[in-house]
Amino acid sequence: PLRLDIKRKLTARSDRVKSADLHPTEPWMVASLYSGTVVVWNHETQVPTSAIHTLTSLNHSLLDLTFKTLDPLQVSLTARSVASLPASQVWQLGSRTPNFTLEGHEKGVNCIDYYGGGDKPYLISGADDRLVKIWDYQNKTCVQTLEGHAQNVTCVCFHPELPIILTGSEDGTVRVWHSNTYRLENTLNYGMERVWCICGQPGSNSVALGYDEGSIIIKLGREEPAMSMDSSGKVMWARHSEVQQANLKAMGEAEVRDGERLSLGVKDMGSCEIFPQTIQHSPNGRFVVVCGDGEYIIYTAMALRNKSFGSAQEFVWAHDSSQYATREGSSMIKVFKNFKEKKAFKPDFGAEGVFGGFLLGVRSNSGLAFYDWENADLIRRIEIQPKHIFWSDSGELVCIGTDESFFVLRYLPERVAAAQESKEEVTEDGIEGAFEVLGEVPGVVKTGVWVGDCFIYTSSLNRLNYYVGGEIITIAHLDRTMYLLGYIPKDDRLYLGDKELNIISYSLLLSVLEYQTAVMRRDFGTADKVLPTIPKEQRNRVANFLEKQGFRQQALAVSTDPEHRFELALQLGELELAHQLASEAESEHKWKQLAELATAKCQFSLAQECLHQAQDYGGLLLLATASGNAGMVGKLAEGAERSGKTNVAFLTCFLQGR
Ligand SMILES: *[C@@H]1O[C@H](CO)[C@@H](O)[C@H](O)[C@H]1NC(C)=O
Ligand SMILES: *[C@@H]1O[C@H](CO)[C@@H](O)[C@H](O)[C@H]1NC(C)=O
Ligand SMILES: *[C@@H]1O[C@H](CO)[C@@H](O)[C@H](O)[C@H]1NC(C)=O
Ligand SMILES: *[C@@H]1O[C@H](CO)[C@@H](O)[C@H](O)[C@H]1NC(C)=O
Ligand SMILES: *[C@@H]1O[C@H](CO)[C@@H](O)[C@H](O)[C@H]1NC(C)=O
Repeated sequence: PLRLDIKRKLTARSDRVKSADLHPTEPWMVASLYSGTVVVWNHETQVPTSAIHTLTSLNHSLLDLTFKTLDPLQVSLTARSVASLPASQVWQLGSRTPNFTLEGHEKGVNCIDYYGGGDKPYLISGADDRLVKIWDYQNKTCVQTLEGHAQNVTCVCFHPELPIILTGSEDGTVRVWHSNTYRLENTLNYGMERVWCICGQPGSNSVALGYDEGSIIIKLGREEPAMSMDSSGKVMWARHSEVQQANLKAMGEAEVRDGERLSLGVKDMGSCEIFPQTIQHSPNGRFVVVCGDGEYIIYTAMALRNKSFGSAQEFVWAHDSSQYATREGSSMIKVFKNFKEKKAFKPDFGAEGVFGGFLLGVRSNSGLAFYDWENADLIRRIEIQPKHIFWSDSGELVCIGTDESFFVLRYLPERVAAAQESKEEVTEDGIEGAFEVLGEVPGVVKTGVWVGDCFIYTSSLNRLNYYVGGEIITIAHLDRTMYLLGYIPKDDRLYLGDKELNIISYSLLLSVLEYQTAVMRRDFGTADKVLPTIPKEQRNRVANFLEKQGFRQQALAVSTDPEHRFELALQLGELELAHQLASEAESEHKWKQLAELATAKCQFSLAQECLHQAQDYGGLLLLATASGNAGMVGKLAEGAERSGKTNVAFLTCFLQGR
């Protein structure tokens, strides 16, 4: 079975819907109603988004409509001719007579669709005889008849992405059939009376359904594409059931620009016996596991030869590639080592999800439990509902993403070992001190990867960010949903994939990440070694990071920006350097700032010079009188008079009794 999750995203009540289409990029659905109006719905906000247009001059019952891809705001309406024949006919464009006729239905055919994917040129038809027929139109034979609908079949659709056929009928149901086995997978009845149209969308899991009483959008299966990259830059993905691979290294010296689609040579690896919903490389890149249809198959990454297989809803690798775990149903976890089952257990609170990495994570309705891989001993239970868990390569840091925010934790294996040894501090919730919370960040992580102590991730707001030491740095704003594949240090680049299996990349310097990692570990020896490899133009970013982490001295050493350096010199009380920078900048404001600092530090001759440079006569007067310096008062009187500062000139003369 396919085990596709089916979620309802929009229910919109209206008059009878004759035809519907989903927008290629916006969250919009357009529906043409039998009554002659066209409504555009936003399925994110759940409200009609556009004014409702009434069409007057057309025969509405014959309207078919689609979003025009060229101008996304324009809806194109096309008259569709309805031939109530018990057969399907195929014409060559421009020809007056049909090339051929497919005969087989007993009553009028209402709808047909072509099968886009695969090597077989198939056609599907639905008719008033309540049957759906699949045709091989090269040899003009009916290869399958789908029986089940209890009334006239009104619409048929080969899903553009998933291996399914959707059929709608006047019996009020939409049926989901497997397009390879023709098995009935699901029957959907939303109680909106007769079904009139079904519309899938390339590159998306959303399907729009039109009924007598309105329209519905459903989402089928996973959002994320089945795609995985190993650490050497080989990317593998599944296009329907076909597995393909591209090698980033084979791009050679071709220039790569941030955010642009990479043109890659694609190699067919063969087809998979199950419909892959996920693909994951083992951490060492030697194997890939494909999961779907409630089963998994582990292949060699090189040749896609099957190495092991079994049933599982979910499959996760341990950090060391020699172990993995599967989840069967919502209670059973199995742990394997070297492809042999080592342990099977039922976690106390059930198993709704499983996570790989340094520890084995199991999610249940009551929270998350971490187990060690060796003996499946409970390490720690945490009250959290994780969506994703990402471990850093060293196993020291872990990011746990939830529906609202993400947490960064430090894992403390020494404490765990000590607690296990002494048997103290071990409660029914595991070892209290196993983790230390470093931070919580609002926002939803979609996909992520650690590089050193930097956590790079895509957010639900389509930002590409990274987190280091409590700080978020935005690398890019993405124009659509993208999924992180990984980071290749040699290229200084991050790679991301999208639903249509395009790959793009963004530059992110390894030296910067390494430097920041060293700083977070307070390892300034390493930081100093890395610093010369950071290009000049990146130094200021690093300096800002250092300052925010409280390392002003280091920030001052790294920064090349005179403004920032002056600020830092002031904060650090480095009067000499600040003086030098103020002289270089010839800025009155800087002299004033420095004068203030020099005064505070009782460096009166420096303060005097600064006030003089800043032409701050009021300040000079205060300094001269407060320090009882008659000579200075005398000089100030002359200077002030020359500069036309009569108030100060008057006061100084008055004080001197002149
Ligand atoms: C619309 O077209 C159908 C089929 O040709 C026809 O039966 C119907 O009378 C037309 N309706 C109007 C309002 O013109
Ligand atoms: C359909 O017939 C036309 C001639 O009428 C021919 O040129 C074309 O190749 C045919 N197409 C198919 C798909 O058989
Ligand atoms: C037509 O092709 C299908 C496969 O697409 C095959 O199952 C069927 O037997 C063929 N029919 C004839 C009459 O050749
Ligand atoms: C099914 O189609 C027939 C025409 O073939 C029509 O008479 C009948 O009313 C339709 N059934 C329903 C439930 O509308
Ligand atoms: C894996 O290979 C074995 C032996 O060739 C074969 O019997 C089995 O059907 C294959 N299974 C899968 C799931 O590919």
